[in-house]
Amino acid sequence: MSLENKQILLGVTGGIAAYKTAELTRLLTRAGASVRVVMTRGAQAFVTPLTFQALSGEPVRTELLDPKHEAAMGHIELARWADLILVAPATASFIERLATGRADDLLSTLCLASASPIMLAPAMNQQMWQQQATQDNVQILLKRDIKIIGPAEGDQACGDVGPGRMLEPQKILQLAEQHFHTGALAGKRIMITAGPTREPIDPVRFLSNRSSGKMGYALAQAAVEAGATVTLITGPVNLTTPRSVKRINVETAEAMRAAVFETIDRSDIFIATAAVSDYRPVTAAEQKIKKSAEHLTLELLPNPDILAEVAALEKPPFTVGFAAETESLEKHAQAKLQRKKLNMIAANPVNDNQGFDQDENQLAVFWSDGEQRFPLTTKYKLARQLISLIAEQYHST
Ligand code: PMT
Repeated sequence: MSLENKQILLGVTGGIAAYKTAELTRLLTRAGASVRVVMTRGAQAFVTPLTFQALSGEPVRTELLDPKHEAAMGHIELARWADLILVAPATASFIERLATGRADDLLSTLCLASASPIMLAPAMNQQMWQQQATQDNVQILLKRDIKIIGPAEGDQACGDVGPGRMLEPQKILQLAEQHFHTGALAGKRIMITAGPTREPIDPVRFLSNRSSGKMGYALAQAAVEAGATVTLITGPVNLTTPRSVKRINVETAEAMRAAVFETIDRSDIFIATAAVSDYRPVTAAEQKIKKSAEHLTLELLPNPDILAEVAALEKPPFTVGFAAETESLEKHAQAKLQRKKLNMIAANPVNDNQGFDQDENQLAVFWSDGEQRFPLTTKYKLARQLISLIAEQYHST
């Protein structure tokens, strides 16, 4: 497991276990996560912000209304940035403030301002943990789907023995990794196409488009994290293959089609993220075309529609298409969903530099009796949201 491309907001509140959070920061970053640390005033009595800055490689935030930090990344932006808010240690006082919905310091405000999942690793004296007041607050948080991990039992810094120790950093890391590895598509085989195709004109020129492959590669990673076995059929892109993904490189639409049909009968789900050239030159010149005539006419032939062919199989996999549109997004996407007989279609606007070759994207997803909109966010986060929706729809068909 890993935390590659995950954005973790690590909250540190005022308990002696805060010194262990330094080690946790190191483990999280080593697992591939981007970590931004927010400390309460109490936490700074135990460890300095500089420690966390050195370990996370990012400035540490401590104040709600700090003009310098607000100018760089406002607190609402930071709340949206997080894929996961992890608070370790979480004191009894912080748990109480979260349960009552307070927003009187930066960390409590971020928790209130974020739609991201929250995970708390409590740490306190055993008597404080067992107090009815604390237990009532914990119950309130559990009802709100806040995850409480630990505490562990054992010797405490104050000399008591009992429940209240923060889980060890290694254990917290493991639970954070598990949070992203959902198992929603465990045991399923998924084929994903990604990137552009290149249709040769002559030995040095080709027809292509601006697809970078980022959306398709993010989906491949999210599908692996959901427990699937993933085959990624990719046009030429400049990206690293996600861990545990089988990657097949192709150049042309016809080569992509051949690679897809090699194993499509063994796939449960097919996701067509590739920007396949709709046309190719009738012939590719054997020698470089010389600049001679005033006008040059390129004759084009339509390429096979890979997605439509897959959906038309006698026993098709669950098919998910993409629609890249510069106008009438919903109308065109709905038309493609029906014409190509797909299970789902994810439409993205691609005018004004959107979609293609960007780190962020937005999607409107349609299926026969429903739709879901995912607002602009990183392609990694969007991929996790889309894979979770695909899993839901796949299991309900
Ligand atoms: O790669 P990025 O830079 O991250 O950008 C992502 C993206 C914008 C390319 C991606 O999100 C996207 O929209 N991919 C589909 C682009 C596209 O070709 O859309 P389309 O509306 O032309 O095609 C509709 C569907 O048919 C697509 O699923 C496409 O893969 C498939 N198709 C199209 C033509 C063809 N000959 N064969 C196909 O399989």
